[in-house]
Amino acid sequence: MATAEQVKTLIKSHFDSDPDRFSTIALQIAAHEARQGHSDVANEIRIIIDHAKNKPVRITFHRELEDLVLETEPHNRFNELVVSDSLKNRIQRILREYQQQHKLKKHGIGHRRKLLLAGPPGTGKTMTASIIAKQLSLPFYTILMDKLVTKYMGETSAKLRQIFDLIDRQKGVYLFDEFDAIGAERGLENDVGEMRRVLNAFLQFIEHDKSDSLIVAATNNLTLLDQALFRRFDDVLHYKLPTLKEATLLIDNRIGTFKGEFSSEKIAKKAIKLSQGEIAQACDDAIKETILSDKQKVTEELILAMLKDRTDAYGNRVK
Ligand SMILES: Nc1ncnc2c1ncn2[C@@H]1O[C@H](COP(=O)(O)OP(=O)(O)OP(=O)(O)O)[C@@H](O)[C@H]1O
Ligand SMILES: [Mg+2]
Repeated sequence: MATAEQVKTLIKSHFDSDPDRFSTIALQIAAHEARQGHSDVANEIRIIIDHAKNKPVRITFHRELEDLVLETEPHNRFNELVVSDSLKNRIQRILREYQQQHKLKKHGIGHRRKLLLAGPPGTGKTMTASIIAKQLSLPFYTILMDKLVTKYMGETSAKLRQIFDLIDRQKGVYLFDEFDAIGAERGLENDVGEMRRVLNAFLQFIEHDKSDSLIVAATNNLTLLDQALFRRFDDVLHYKLPTLKEATLLIDNRIGTFKGEFSSEKIAKKAIKLSQGEIAQACDDAIKETILSDKQKVTEELILAMLKDRTDAYGNRVK
């Protein structure tokens, strides 16, 4: 059985709407059960958590848009995001302007609501869009840009128009995720023309949008975009791989109560050139492995092994 403390924290995290804390406690309960020899219960708890975490909810507004727009529950919190202070300030400015838009409106000034997030994979772009939705209590929609091109080739502009109609009708945070991936789609490698066309249509819709929604475009590759296009966005945020200090903080945040006797900074030094996403995944893997082997604390060796797994999977980037 879970301890009274765990049950209390579990209940509190539910009423605080803190699903991450909820999952962490649930995992601790699973670990506790595993240590008692109840590995079936431990496994069942883990499966429930995994399942809940990976469950995007499909929306059904619009028959034609069903497979192009996904609604997911935003669960990331601002304090989980590990980025530079200046980036944090800029995100906070976006939130503040939204929350006090009426003040700006009185003076005929619009708040920042068309955002371009650029940076390497796994540095927090999607997470930021989800945080903005969560902090502003707005629904969070992701537009599947690759599908828009592959499945609706030739009618992409018409589909985009429908999407922007939706943006106008239904207030929310709309993430056009990895819209640079359009060009990398199989079969389209050489079709730069189609990609350009879609991109241009997209940017025109953005320019003309006067909705109350926030539009977030995320890209790994700014060089694909014409510098002149940036003016269509109210803000361009640049994401970077973590500094040593940021990687250390991320490891501490992520390992949380599972932390054993080790220096996170020493480990972070081995994670040079890995993204926040890769480091977070290595930490999660280390926690899982700890639970599976009925241990209570994550060890230095285990995290290093998991980081190495990441590096091996993504190329030889850890020294
Ligand atoms: N800056 C960060 N701070 C804390 N955790 C992060 C950060 N960046 C990424 N993560 C972790 O990695 C996961 C994946 O990150 P995310 O999807 O936001 O990356 P991305 O920049 O959108 O990457 P991609 O370009 O591949 O879409 C997040 O859900 C989070 O767990
Ligand atoms: Mg992303």
